[in-house]
Amino acid sequence: PVSSRLVVISNRVASPKAASGGNQGGLAVALLAALRENGGVWFGWSGETIDTFTGEMDRVEEGGVTTATIDLEPQDIDEYYNGFANRTLWPLFHDRIDLTEFERDYEGGYVRVNRRFADTVHPLIGEDDLVWVHDYHLIPLGRELRRRGVENRMGFFLHIPWPQSRILLSLPHHEELVRSLFEYDVVGFHTQDWLDAFREYVVRQLGAEIEADCVIRLDGHAIRAIVAPIGIDAGEFEEAAAGTRARFARDRMHMTLTGRQLLVGVDRLDYSKGLPERFLSYERFLVRNPDLQGLVSFLQIAPPSREKVDTYQEIRAQLDSLSGRINGEYSDIDWVPVRYVNRGYQREELAGIYRAARVALVTPLRDGMNLVAKEYVAAQDPDDPGVLVLSMFAGAAAQLTDAVIVNPFSADEVADGIAEALAMPREERIRRWRALIENVRREDVFWWRDLFLNALQKADVREPA
Ligand code: G6P
Repeated sequence: PVSSRLVVISNRVASPKAASGGNQGGLAVALLAALRENGGVWFGWSGETIDTFTGEMDRVEEGGVTTATIDLEPQDIDEYYNGFANRTLWPLFHDRIDLTEFERDYEGGYVRVNRRFADTVHPLIGEDDLVWVHDYHLIPLGRELRRRGVENRMGFFLHIPWPQSRILLSLPHHEELVRSLFEYDVVGFHTQDWLDAFREYVVRQLGAEIEADCVIRLDGHAIRAIVAPIGIDAGEFEEAAAGTRARFARDRMHMTLTGRQLLVGVDRLDYSKGLPERFLSYERFLVRNPDLQGLVSFLQIAPPSREKVDTYQEIRAQLDSLSGRINGEYSDIDWVPVRYVNRGYQREELAGIYRAARVALVTPLRDGMNLVAKEYVAAQDPDDPGVLVLSMFAGAAAQLTDAVIVNPFSADEVADGIAEALAMPREERIRRWRALIENVRREDVFWWRDLFLNALQKADVREPA
């Protein structure tokens, strides 16, 4: 078991208070659960701006976890967060080269903010601490910390897909970015596919050598590159689904459903989630099954995300128009086919909504993992569980093989998947759900943390340079 204190670094930091209620991504919730066990510090951006960067930290201590956050300058946020992270790396790593913007200023801002992170977090790192850096915002942070003399064991986890080499090659200075990953001791991915793509790139492009047991060597640096799929705190979510707030949300749902079957989708409003494709698939399903019109209701919850980035404004406009058109075309005086909601809900409420839904539509075009799929499974009633319709391009599909797996690019296939899910007899729903929940419980967030941190603990401490 890993006993060292942890220093977790990620762009976004969840406040311990918000974790039980707020509407934060699954990643935030998972990391907080991991920190609670070992104690330590979670460092990142506050989400706020400041005119001139000072490096002053806002520290909050609660239940053995200290969160330390810094404010960033407007230019930092433009170039680093909205720029390189979310206009360059995010679309590129999700196979959307058509949406990717390449700007030198973004790259400059990215490096500058990574340096600012390194300068500020450096004094917080104790001698025996394990340093665990998260996600695409902070790839070069390890290199910056090594330059400042940090010799600790350091791991990096990528929460988004790793793209095929032919896509990565279009990124200016891709080699430098990938080389910086070799400053870590362990690099983790959610699936074997992403790890394979990474290995292919580093071997062919950088001339790295694969040694036994997932060790990759480049210029004298050996890293362990591993697959560690993130999970949820299944126990906590199952409890939430059985709680009062969940029941209240479920009752509210049932009251308005008046016997109709509920299909649900919950996603950040992001083009990687395949929302227009999902809406069109649902329309295809309605057209093909006229007898079911009026008997189903599709609820899409989609809280807006990264609103400063134009591609996110465009996807929002597209969905406004699509939901309006579908509702205009198929609604009746007492039935609306799509309920489209641009706000987030608390975890307990979501648990209740999931439990009220006969079908979940989790159909991203590309997704590192997707924890909504796992939460949906955890929220189900064991005696009458719903059906998960899951994209083959979500990382979660590698584990949740008993879901109805669909190709999100094909409206026909997704429409078939919806019809299959709605018609599925209870025995088959139970059989599939049992296989799914078994995985969600076993490979939970604590399993994930231990898998990664055990690999990190085993790494040799770096020799002073
Ligand atoms: C994905 C990323 C996370 C990110 C989250 C929310 O899950 O992997 O790093 O925090 O989206 O996006 P945001 O831009 O609001 O942090």
